[in-house]
Amino acid sequence: MASQLKFLLPLSILAISFLHSSNAESCSSYTFSDNKAYSSCTDLPHLGAALHYNQATSSNAIDIAFRAPQSHSGWVAWGLNPKGPSMVGSQVLVAFFHSNGSLVAYPTQLDSYSPSMAPGDLTFPVSHVSAEYINKEMIIYATLSLPKAKTKFNHVWQAGSTVASDVPGVHPTSGENVLSKGTVEFQ
Ligand SMILES: *[C@@H]1O[C@H](CO)[C@@H](O)[C@H](O)[C@H]1NC(C)=O
Repeated sequence: MASQLKFLLPLSILAISFLHSSNAESCSSYTFSDNKAYSSCTDLPHLGAALHYNQATSSNAIDIAFRAPQSHSGWVAWGLNPKGPSMVGSQVLVAFFHSNGSLVAYPTQLDSYSPSMAPGDLTFPVSHVSAEYINKEMIIYATLSLPKAKTKFNHVWQAGSTVASDVPGVHPTSGENVLSKGTVEFQ
């Protein structure tokens, strides 16, 4: 028993320091479940988020995985905005725990500053939408069919701490939550 404890203690310290460093380290060292793999990734500058993607193929389909830290009761979202560098007009994917206990993920358009957040089609085809909750991160997976001959997009990402009646609540409107946008170049 004592020797087992001696063994377990350094192991748990190792595990803790690994967990800690994996937050600070670059997205390129992240290992996905089920052997999912992405050729490129970018650590986003706010909300501890990261975007992983596979280089566009000739069909212009691109697989993405968006990761952001979140508690069980919150939500995360990521998307592209073909109209400009802001929230309104964004074509996003959102994930949260439904009241039935399932982690749900679906596409929705942000058509105003108080969007319905109801599931709906985007302005481009999106398929294979799913999500996972691992190491206190929500991860959204999807395949996007993007306009041909365009690789650079405005993107936005977000995290909010509340979900009410299975609808994501308003996110904070200060600090990192208003800085979480930029451009992404799929290449
Ligand atoms: C929970 O609700 C979502 C959205 O309606 C549905 O996709 C999912 O299958 C449900 N899960 C369970 C366990 O009923």
